[in-house]
Amino acid sequence: MKRTRTQSLASYFETEVIPLSFVAPWRTHQRSHRVGLNPHEPLTAPSVAMRLLLAGAVLLSAAAYYVYLPLPSGVSEPWKLMLLDALFRSFMQASDAAHALGVCHRIHLLNWVVSWVEEIEAHSCDAVQVADSTLGGVPTRVFHPLGGSQLKRGIVYFHGGGWALGSARMRSYDLLCRKMAKDLDSVVMSVDYRLAPDAVFPDQYYDALAASRAFLTPEVLHRYRIDPNRVCVSGDSAGGNLAAAVAQELSSDDSLPVKFKLQALIYPVLQALDFHTASYQQNQAVPILYRPFMARFWLQYLGADSSLEPLLLTNNHSSLDQRVISADTRSKVDWTALLSSEKRKHFRPVVKARGSPEVMDAVPHLMDVRAAPLLADQAVLRRTPTAYVMTCEFDVLRDDGLMYVRRLQDAGVTATSDHYEDGFHGCMVFSFLPMMSSVGQRSMNNYISWLDQNL
Ligand SMILES: *[C@@H]1O[C@H](CO)[C@@H](O)[C@H](O)[C@H]1NC(C)=O
Repeated sequence: MKRTRTQSLASYFETEVIPLSFVAPWRTHQRSHRVGLNPHEPLTAPSVAMRLLLAGAVLLSAAAYYVYLPLPSGVSEPWKLMLLDALFRSFMQASDAAHALGVCHRIHLLNWVVSWVEEIEAHSCDAVQVADSTLGGVPTRVFHPLGGSQLKRGIVYFHGGGWALGSARMRSYDLLCRKMAKDLDSVVMSVDYRLAPDAVFPDQYYDALAASRAFLTPEVLHRYRIDPNRVCVSGDSAGGNLAAAVAQELSSDDSLPVKFKLQALIYPVLQALDFHTASYQQNQAVPILYRPFMARFWLQYLGADSSLEPLLLTNNHSSLDQRVISADTRSKVDWTALLSSEKRKHFRPVVKARGSPEVMDAVPHLMDVRAAPLLADQAVLRRTPTAYVMTCEFDVLRDDGLMYVRRLQDAGVTATSDHYEDGFHGCMVFSFLPMMSSVGQRSMNNYISWLDQNL
């Protein structure tokens, strides 16, 4: 990050955004004489237009100050990301205010806004039949490609949103799943698992598991004409976490006649023991997923008190005096060993000798492999399906994904790492208008073409 906020503000109007004459008309309109000093000239009040212009300029500067954020060089389309971040931050702040005032829980307000802005009805188009249904008792939006006589591929998809936000009914997820259905000639089932804070772990996990089990039954596969040899589990962010957890559980279940052929994880969140991985350190202030947000999402998911956030952020929960964390467990999240030096860069691990040992009793699920799939034993990983893991350089969760790729490969699983040097967390959701992120589109196309080649 090259510039600080204050340093940049002055130069920022003059160079980057708005022509100076618009922001500061008084500086370009050199008057021949100064108003009011000549006693023979009547004192002229600024015209209405002038006042409006001034008010506009003040508002604009305030807005620009709010929107402007120094971003690391190399991130895709920084201005789009800044605007997106300003939007997110204003929603977050409004919901924090509502929360503090006791109006409603911040997540309820956020979800209300999201559904108001983003949710669309299920509607079919020429190529894809779309309907809301249930799968294993869990609400699900089903995308069924029309035409063709042969069996279709099948994909179970879990949306992101920190186990608390979002929905399969959101426009962005609807468009993504619709495109996957059409381009891949696959039946896509986008699962609306329950959300925090009303539901906490393991509810989300159990919903994801129930929907996946139902998906793999002969009845469902037959009903939707899905080829049992070509089924995949996928998801982004918290949905990638659920997809990885489901893939582990189901691949170890010998009673299942049909197994997932693939797992495709988009910037997944996979562990909560280290909030100081190299990517957490590097991207702690990069929108839209700031480091404290992730700690808060974890606590909320695990049904823990949000007051523990500072404790997690200092890695007090994984200090060396935590007896319950074995050396073996630590090695599974040891990014100093699992990441290449190119990704470790100059960052140093943050390991406390003494921390807050009581926290592991209070929040035991921090160690639960169903919540944190990176903690799985190698013997479990070995049985999981061929994997695709998409990661972004400008994402606190980058190393969660990269470590998982490494651990899968060490276990003998074929794992493709698709890393975006200019990507940011959430970019794939913004592949469509009005945001239309370039890295989002690029990554979405590569994700779909990987599925096309492997499913
Ligand atoms: C972390 O642990 C240390 C040592 O026990 C303690 O002094 C400190 O207050 C803890 N920090 C937080 C944020 O809980």
